Amino acid sequence: MSERQGPGHGLSEHELSEIRMLIEERTGICFDESRERFFSTRVREHLRAKGLQRGTDLLRSMRKSNVEYEALLERLLTQETSFFRYPGVYEAFEKRVLPEMHVKKFWKNPRTLRIWSAGCSTGEEPYSIAITIADSLSFADSWNVEILATDVGRHALKHAERGVYSGRSIASVNEKQLANHFSALEKGQQIKPRLRKMVSFAQMNLASPVYLGRMDAIFCMNVLIYFSEERRRALVQRFYETLEPGGYLFLGHSESISKMPVKFQAIVLTDCILYRKPTADELLKPELVTEGRA
Ligand SMILES: C[S@@+](CC[C@H](N)C(=O)[O-])C[C@H]1O[C@@H](n2cnc3c(N)ncnc32)[C@H](O)[C@@H]1O
Repeated sequence: MSERQGPGHGLSEHELSEIRMLIEERTGICFDESRERFFSTRVREHLRAKGLQRGTDLLRSMRKSNVEYEALLERLLTQETSFFRYPGVYEAFEKRVLPEMHVKKFWKNPRTLRIWSAGCSTGEEPYSIAITIADSLSFADSWNVEILATDVGRHALKHAERGVYSGRSIASVNEKQLANHFSALEKGQQIKPRLRKMVSFAQMNLASPVYLGRMDAIFCMNVLIYFSEERRRALVQRFYETLEPGGYLFLGHSESISKMPVKFQAIVLTDCILYRKPTADELLKPELVTEGRA
């Protein structure tokens, strides 16, 4: 039986499907029919850029070398992001979550706030969290704030560590935030050291669980949409276990955990839904806990 080949390059449907499976197995990212065109175009571009003639050569090099595998992966990641991408989320974080954390933790020693930005791309999300904390948490400087920002993409993380932004990425940063938290450079605006100190970046694949300690809040926005239903469930369960009782999970606008058997309280606000992990006392009152409802 002859395999269908892509125009100009030796890439059969079978090879494309092997590559798709390899990526899904290792990262959880699932290229379904709606992203089929994007997937095959990017793989073909990569084959051309590498000067390879056949899909089998690409598959062999990806299986043999992690560097080669990551080189293709980087081309396939969707890393669109911006500061304060959903203003409603940051408003809820400022007006609801931070005041609650303040009451709960102010008298603790050390006074620590731990937040995870899972799938942070080029850093706009964790820095937006840091700006919100710096500007609205009472006595922010007296807290030990740890924002762990992770992503599977190395290039994106390098950009995040440089912390230099311009154009559309910072369009939603207001004048005051710009003056307080950025220094103007020739080619953009650089995050000031006070915010940089709050954020640590690490390469991490969400499909390979690593123990990170308990978190007060987890932001995983616009990442789950790329995963299969099964992976999504496993990840949401892991987020639940990682959160402190009373901790919050933030997801992207089009992501819901409806029908998932996790015991989050879904708090529906005008512009976003927050998922709160109930405390042990609250778990004894089932009327307060809605199973994964959105
Ligand atoms: C569309 S961006 C979202 C960025 C940011 N959270 C936001 O909402 O603006 C999705 C990010 O998820 C990352 N990602 C995808 N699969 C991942 C995985 N298995 N492990 C870690 N990060 C992953 C991508 O590299 C990308 O940076």
